[in-house]
Amino acid sequence: RIFADSKSASSAVATEIASLIRTRASQGKTCVLGLVAGSSPIDVYVELVRMHREEGLSFANVTTFNLDEYLPMEPDGPQSYVRFMNENLFSHIDMRPENIHIPDGTLATEQVADFCRRYEGMIAEAGGIDIQVLGINRTGHIGFNEPGSDLRSRTRMITLDNVTRTDAASDFFGIENVPRRAITMGVGTIMEARRILLLAFGDNKASIVARTIEGGVDPSVPATFLQLHDQAEFIIDSGAASAL
Ligand code: GLP
Repeated sequence: RIFADSKSASSAVATEIASLIRTRASQGKTCVLGLVAGSSPIDVYVELVRMHREEGLSFANVTTFNLDEYLPMEPDGPQSYVRFMNENLFSHIDMRPENIHIPDGTLATEQVADFCRRYEGMIAEAGGIDIQVLGINRTGHIGFNEPGSDLRSRTRMITLDNVTRTDAASDFFGIENVPRRAITMGVGTIMEARRILLLAFGDNKASIVARTIEGGVDPSVPATFLQLHDQAEFIIDSGAASAL
């Protein structure tokens, strides 16, 4: 779906999320959201916070699972996705803290595999993800599933691609400070979400968006796996659509 600008696109995404939260609340059920950090989802979170403040949208029945986190990363580190989510969403709404899940960037290497198994278990126990929000970077990664990630991959530790580390360098004041690893939900984990909304805005996303939508399914561009999901939509603005 191509929108004139990122604001109208983000508003449509927030409206879909809010509508599911309200429907589930009216049935006395929970709503499970898969969330992402980065610049792309910020206006979705701004709009959800506005709906909470002005329209009484409650998140009391919402459970969230974030896609990824750098490893190592302290929760209060400037580049931490925990911090990002708190600042942009969680601290402004009525989420129950126990319903928030974000991969733990403080784990020692030998603890990660067990954590990842438990993360998968918690997603399953919550009933699976209803709506997964995604961004995309110029390698075509989703979460931190870098080129070469398998369609069946699960939540795991991954070594970051050099392109990803280069793009993150300014946030970390130099590439030497960018963590070499991360924890990410797998492609297989993402593909089990019942609905997937990938957000991409601006001209700099145009070529990877065109490759992902119009090229073949290819593990070297992990986002192309989304072509195999029948409820996945790309929510893009005219800039990101300019190479289609
Ligand atoms: C990082 C994250 C991804 C995110 C991507 C795009 O690599 N791990 O999950 O989608 O950045 O970020 P942005 O939305 O800022 O372009």
